[in-house]
Amino acid sequence: MAVTTNARGLFITLEGPDGSGKSSLLPRLAARLAPGGCEIVTTREPGSTPLGERIRSLLLDTEPRIDHTGRADALLFAAARAQHVEEVISPALARGAVVLCDRYADSSLAYQGVGSGVPMDQLREVQRFATGGLLPDLTILLDLPVEVGLSRKSDEITRFEAFQDVAYHERVRAAFLSFAAAEPGRYVIVDASGDRDAVLEASFAAIARVADRLPCLAGLVRAD
Ligand code: TYD
Repeated sequence: MAVTTNARGLFITLEGPDGSGKSSLLPRLAARLAPGGCEIVTTREPGSTPLGERIRSLLLDTEPRIDHTGRADALLFAAARAQHVEEVISPALARGAVVLCDRYADSSLAYQGVGSGVPMDQLREVQRFATGGLLPDLTILLDLPVEVGLSRKSDEITRFEAFQDVAYHERVRAAFLSFAAAEPGRYVIVDASGDRDAVLEASFAAIARVADRLPCLAGLVRAD
């Protein structure tokens, strides 16, 4: 796989602690961008391919309860990610699409790296191997206090919500904030504790920063 650049489309990832509302934002953000005329592809990790959905169950199901080391988790997420990049994300970018992806490599760095203590330099290498070096053009970090996120009802309670303590989730939140501080050119932080419409508009405004990369987005942002 020789994917290292994203020459044609635009690759936007949504990141954040559990319960930050990424999954419900994704289709609404796609609808907000669609009138510009771009092809919008929404996708999520782990999953979005037949192999990735199988791995998703291994990673997230609470039953049967099976022990995973942080390294084993890192490799399972990375395997799902490798398949996702090659089967879904790269072809969409090659067509010139806007790819809106719910979680990507930064989630592994935050959860398996800072949350579970997998060494960061090795974990970054694993991400490079899995993705062929494909990086997002923009990452929207939906930030909110851990207790607020964990108290929001989600359709699916994952292993991470069921079996990790609040301190783990605090480390994950702090990790995302530190990544955003380290890469201000790629990251935009959106306050996810506000109402849904405010979060949608703040996320749309964040995309304006990279909209000049695609004519179908540039027109939309100018018209807004
Ligand atoms: P999901 O139900 O998609 O949660 P959310 O809606 O909050 O995104 O479950 C994904 C879970 O997997 C979430 O707890 C974060 C975790 N995760 C990792 O630990 N590492 C990763 O690389 C990814 C993609 C997710």
